[in-house]
Amino acid sequence: MRKPIIGGNWKMNRGTPAETKEMLKKLLPLVKKITNVDIVIAPPFTALISAIDLVKKSNIRIGAQNMYFEEKGAFTGEVSPKFLKDIGVTYVILGHSERRNIFKESDELVNQKLKKALAMKINPIVCIGEHLEEREAGKTKEIIQNQIDKTFKDLTKEEIIKTVIAYEPIWAIGTGKTATPEQAEEIHVFIREILASKFDKQTSELVRIQYGGSIKPTNAKELFEKENIDGGLVGGASLEADSLLDIIKAADETTI
Ligand code: 13P
Repeated sequence: MRKPIIGGNWKMNRGTPAETKEMLKKLLPLVKKITNVDIVIAPPFTALISAIDLVKKSNIRIGAQNMYFEEKGAFTGEVSPKFLKDIGVTYVILGHSERRNIFKESDELVNQKLKKALAMKINPIVCIGEHLEEREAGKTKEIIQNQIDKTFKDLTKEEIIKTVIAYEPIWAIGTGKTATPEQAEEIHVFIREILASKFDKQTSELVRIQYGGSIKPTNAKELFEKENIDGGLVGGASLEADSLLDIIKAADETTI
């Protein structure tokens, strides 16, 4: 019922125009026949225009890794959603844990960005997730509840349905330590329960929830087979066309 979505978050690891061209030229013919999975690549800002040029008329969409919530003004170093939209960006990753932890983005700021992205019709992918100490202290659900309360504050039903949620436990990001399918599914079910209580059950079942954190070709299928995991947000393994292709295929197989 929900179309899986695979996002490749290149972070600051790859993104010269030459690297972007090399990767996308390889990926494009490989994913040509995939119609049951939404594919989004999020390179750094400097590679967005090259990437958009390369994927024109294909089934790959290009996302930004961040944006500001104002369209214009004295905000040195920030990027306007208007500029992103103008060049053809259709997705934006918001509130990634690296933005929250290193650059101190708060839930309130992410909420402002989310509302702006929705108003500008840029598809938001919003990240939430707990630290290792929080999991070990048995606080995962409390943290997730709090992040959802604040990050998705004052959204309408129509808006939450258009929002992709990425559950990315911070201890699993870039560590090689993936959450087990059961651990991930438990939190995805919990997220859906929260959405059902905030909106209604039907709405909660329409929201796509991705898992993120050390997804690899070897563990993708077992994660995506879980009922409430609607694809993934992939870091390291999205840098090479072959590994990303295997992950996209794993999501595609769950739709058959
Ligand atoms: P890794 O796949 O490298 O663990 O990164 C996950 C992530 O942060 C995607 O946004």
